[in-house]
Amino acid sequence: MTRENSNKLSRPSASVPPRSRRSRNSTVSQPLGGVARTFSVAQLRLRVVDNMRVKPATIMPSYYRIEGFDQVAGAYRGKPILDAEQIEDIVAYLATLR
Ligand code: HEM
Repeated sequence: MTRENSNKLSRPSASVPPRSRRSRNSTVSQPLGGVARTFSVAQLRLRVVDNMRVKPATIMPSYYRIEGFDQVAGAYRGKPILDAEQIEDIVAYLATLR
């Protein structure tokens, strides 16, 4: 292995294939621009609160669900990732993405 290659392997970002800046500006999902044209405020809220209800196989975290998880560390048990106010702030922001 050349030195150049080993450097690449040691830096994860260097092994990510180049992407078009215009077509994708998110690393795990589609860009959220325009999402409020597709979904109502209630539909946006549901996706942030518990996207698994919409898409059971999603990798997106359920930001306001506390039940039905396995192996939650003690400090996090019984607490949502975000509180209700944070959820509403995000939903309000998403609603501006028209
Ligand atoms: C506060 C942070 C986040 C917000 C506000 C958010 C918001 C959303 C919304 C509104 C959608 C629906 C868009 C659509 O289906 O067209 C969505 C889909 C999605 N999100 Fe998130 N998301 C967040 C974090 C994440 C994270 C951390 C991940 C991955 C680890 C993720 C992965 C996905 C994926 C893969 C989808 C596509 C549909 C699916 O497969 O479920 N999101 N997100």
